[in-house]
Amino acid sequence: MIVFCVFLVLCYDLVQAQFPRFCVTGAASKSDSCCPLWTDLSPCGLRSGRGICRDFVPVFNQSGHVPQYNDDRLNWPKYYFTSACECLGNYSGYRCGDCKYGYFGEKCDRKITIVRKEIRELSLLERKRFFSYLALAKITKSQDFVILYTGDRHHKDTYRFVDASIYDVFSWIHYYSTKPILKNGTFDDSTNYAHQGPAFPGWHRLGLLFLERQIQLMTGDENFALPYWDWRGEQNCSICTNDFLGDNDEQGFLSQYSYFAFWKSICSGYNYDDSYCLAADDFNQLEKLHRKPGANPHARSLPTVQEVEDTLNLEHFDRFPYNRYAQHSFRNALEGFLNASDGEFQTTMHNLVHNFFGGTMGEVPISSNDPIFLLHHCFIDKIYEKWLQKYNATPDVYPKNDQPGQGPDECATPYFPCYTNKYFLHWSDKFGYDYSIYKGM
Ligand SMILES: *[C@@H]1O[C@H](CO)[C@@H](O)[C@H](O)[C@H]1NC(C)=O
Ligand SMILES: *[C@@H]1O[C@H](CO)[C@@H](O)[C@H](O)[C@H]1NC(C)=O
Ligand SMILES: *[C@@H]1O[C@H](CO)[C@@H](O)[C@H](O)[C@H]1NC(C)=O
Ligand SMILES: *[C@@H]1O[C@H](CO)[C@@H](O)[C@H](O)[C@H]1NC(C)=O
Ligand SMILES: *[C@@H]1O[C@H](CO)[C@@H](O)[C@H](O)[C@H]1NC(C)=O
Repeated sequence: MIVFCVFLVLCYDLVQAQFPRFCVTGAASKSDSCCPLWTDLSPCGLRSGRGICRDFVPVFNQSGHVPQYNDDRLNWPKYYFTSACECLGNYSGYRCGDCKYGYFGEKCDRKITIVRKEIRELSLLERKRFFSYLALAKITKSQDFVILYTGDRHHKDTYRFVDASIYDVFSWIHYYSTKPILKNGTFDDSTNYAHQGPAFPGWHRLGLLFLERQIQLMTGDENFALPYWDWRGEQNCSICTNDFLGDNDEQGFLSQYSYFAFWKSICSGYNYDDSYCLAADDFNQLEKLHRKPGANPHARSLPTVQEVEDTLNLEHFDRFPYNRYAQHSFRNALEGFLNASDGEFQTTMHNLVHNFFGGTMGEVPISSNDPIFLLHHCFIDKIYEKWLQKYNATPDVYPKNDQPGQGPDECATPYFPCYTNKYFLHWSDKFGYDYSIYKGM
């Protein structure tokens, strides 16, 4: 029986902070700093050598003399905090109380490498466990993070923080990154913090790591690995059955016998540029998950084996102008604005899969509400990993560019602590995971 998570609206008179609950509640909300005490009672666990509290140095350079951008996410998280924790060694987390991805134990000196498998490779038990964990993540209130909503993005005094479940925090992070950028008082949706630029593969890699880790911590199951779905060459969604991700009816709603039949999408029906969603303020208004695989006449089937192959043959990580118009760019082909097979700008790969489903998956800001998003992005990440290994890539191939939030040294937005975009050009073993070999790849 699924119990829906209840959001509590917490109204703070002073809003200077963001995500980590400790930084937006109690005494901390009165300060501009997000350097919470660790259990040794020092900020960022300084006394135990876990981390240090550092002031932010803005990395994004405004082009021209007049400041053009006044977006709250620019130079993340400077708008909210003047300082935050920088963790040392194998430590990580918003107060350095956690370990870097792949590390475990009190001293974070235990490295574990998990293997992400194709969902059809999981045993029945593993698969059922995966669905139970997701059900739990959807209803378990996040202890560490709150999410933000705004009445009006132009006015900081309308910003509020609310509780959300672990899954919904994950989903909201994606939503938040995709909102149009506030530029000189108006909204520019030609780019955002997670898409249409070189940050795309790494940003999503971090999103998956974040949720995977949150589930490991929630369940105590250190070996939990997200599965992926290898969609190459499929015409019908093979995992859209009630034993897997769920069948749907004529209208596209999931079968009542499927695992996610009663899930609702946070921030659905609320696609306004000038505010971040009122979350579950009005729970009844939220949409249930829906999809219609193969119904979109422009996306009748999924990318082919050959298209994946051709994408992997592009040796440049990204090319000028580093957006959806980049030619010969692995990133642009993987993201799906460029057909690697013939060099045309066409909907392919990652974008094609979203469009194939339509419904929740077809709407960028809310797509992460459908767990099929996880399986899809995990496969995109597997292709990315193949590319990193094929070309022996390192962070220095990440290009300088002038898109907000997408510079090599900018923090992937809006994660805590700061991970620079270029950091995700390291191979997956650095982050403690690997992929199974499936169908020759
Ligand atoms: C920002 O611009 C200044 C002046 O043009 C330059 O000296 C500096 O290196 C730039 N910083 C980055 C991080 O690109
Ligand atoms: C910002 O907008 C104002 C008026 O809307 C305009 O005069 C100004 O040139 C704009 N500045 C930039 C840098 O775009
Ligand atoms: C990180 O963990 C590894 C063990 O996996 C250990 O060898 C290494 O010394 C640790 N690094 C630090 C800085 O503690
Ligand atoms: C996909 O489904 C349609 C309609 O159910 C069916 O006609 C077609 O043969 C299927 N294609 C494959 C490759 O399974
Ligand atoms: C990509 O280009 C190839 C070669 O022209 C073509 O066969 C294929 O259908 C295109 N893919 C998409 C998704 O448009």
